[in-house]
Amino acid sequence: MALDAGKPTYSTGDKTSFAWVTARERWPVIITSAIDDVYRSVHAATDPEAVQEGKKILESLASLKYEIQHDRQLTPIEDDGYLDVSLYNDELAKLGPPTWLNVSWLYSECYLFRRISTYFTKTTHWKTYDLFARQKIKTFRSSRPAVLELAARYRELATQLQSGDHIPDEAEKLMFTEMCEVCLWGNATDLSLLTTLTYEDIQKLQGAKARKESEKNILVNDTATAFELLKKAKAEGKAERRVDIVLDNAGFELYVDLILAGYLLSSGLATHIVLHPKSIPWFVSDVLPSDFAHLLSSLANPKPFYETPSDDENLQGKTPAPLADADAENLAFLFQQWSRFHAEGQVILRPNRFWTHAGSFWRMPSEAKDLFEDLKLSELVIFKGDLNYRKLTADTDWDPTTPFTTALGPLGPGSGINVLSLRTCKADVVVGLEPGVDEKLRAVEGGGGDSGARKWAWNGKWAVISFSPRE
Ligand code: F6P
Ligand code: MG
Repeated sequence: MALDAGKPTYSTGDKTSFAWVTARERWPVIITSAIDDVYRSVHAATDPEAVQEGKKILESLASLKYEIQHDRQLTPIEDDGYLDVSLYNDELAKLGPPTWLNVSWLYSECYLFRRISTYFTKTTHWKTYDLFARQKIKTFRSSRPAVLELAARYRELATQLQSGDHIPDEAEKLMFTEMCEVCLWGNATDLSLLTTLTYEDIQKLQGAKARKESEKNILVNDTATAFELLKKAKAEGKAERRVDIVLDNAGFELYVDLILAGYLLSSGLATHIVLHPKSIPWFVSDVLPSDFAHLLSSLANPKPFYETPSDDENLQGKTPAPLADADAENLAFLFQQWSRFHAEGQVILRPNRFWTHAGSFWRMPSEAKDLFEDLKLSELVIFKGDLNYRKLTADTDWDPTTPFTTALGPLGPGSGINVLSLRTCKADVVVGLEPGVDEKLRAVEGGGGDSGARKWAWNGKWAVISFSPRE
């Protein structure tokens, strides 16, 4: 097995790692919610064959949960026709096979979601079913205050950019920073963390006030370098300047990704945006192409989306507040601009199965050569979120002062790829810190103290914006 960075990776058997908590507490909750979702859909299904298949999926999910909680061995993934099955199974064989509670965290967590996807792909009626869609839509709807606030801000900014008025350099840089920070903190809202955060916590993380206060929580901030790079490419007059976003979560995070994308296009800092979604339901909240379509349709019809009571609201006898006309107009502005960008090919989606492989991105040059070559054509590749950061850095127990460029291995300098990672910290791995920062944060209340655990890095309150140049 390729120990990608040649050093130990985090393991579910390590008591001090977030992997330990994740495997024992978070995965069972995630599977229970998945069972609840499928159960509802089976209950609503009318075709007897679909009901039969649905019941079989429910059994498979229940036994998967049992296997995890009883620390059983991981079994080979059933062949569902995709080429990555052999990659997963070959690695599994080399690993032992291991048991759930003492296995590489990165491998086992990817394996978990990949295995769940086979329960669906092997059926006739549930092939494209997304068992996390309900949760994604529900959380996006509950981000309403931040969505509306940002729509107003974005419209104002885009209108200013469209007016053709000269914008001084300093103001341009500030706008870029603001958009990157909006996009960064959108990552604090992933659904797999909802097992520990309430909706209220999440709403607090999303507003402008919270963003301002959180600036001090960005431990590494290479935003200025990324801005200079895009500005230079623009000044050189290169006709096509592409920015890629390796997406993370749907809903609010995808919404802020599109805010950043729209800003880059409106300001001329990029001419094309390539978005990289996942191909199978992944880590609960990750973007599938269908989530992109769903987001645009919610913006196209915001009144029914926000004003029609959800099942839960109906049960509780609650009626959502009507959407103000000004808010609906701002959302309509966003929809029109973004759907035009999409229709004209300036914003495109490019899924690739590599994003749902088990290994780190250290394997990209060998496992996904075409993707690796394609990313070299981009001016800047923005990797969103925690899992992408774990994969960039091979989920390795690096000394936290290790340079980001070193931790990227083959994707670091010399790769031909300009990498920018926007990540709120929700796992143990962290690099690029100044000496003493990790120690200081561990000493803060709840930061882990001398337990050996880097707890401060688990809850999405701290973040890094790290850059690595292509040369
Ligand atoms: O469950 C593990 C994990 O990768 C955490 O590190 C993180 O909380 C979550 O899943 C995914 O986060 P993100 O959506 O930011 O990649
Ligand atoms: Mg995610």
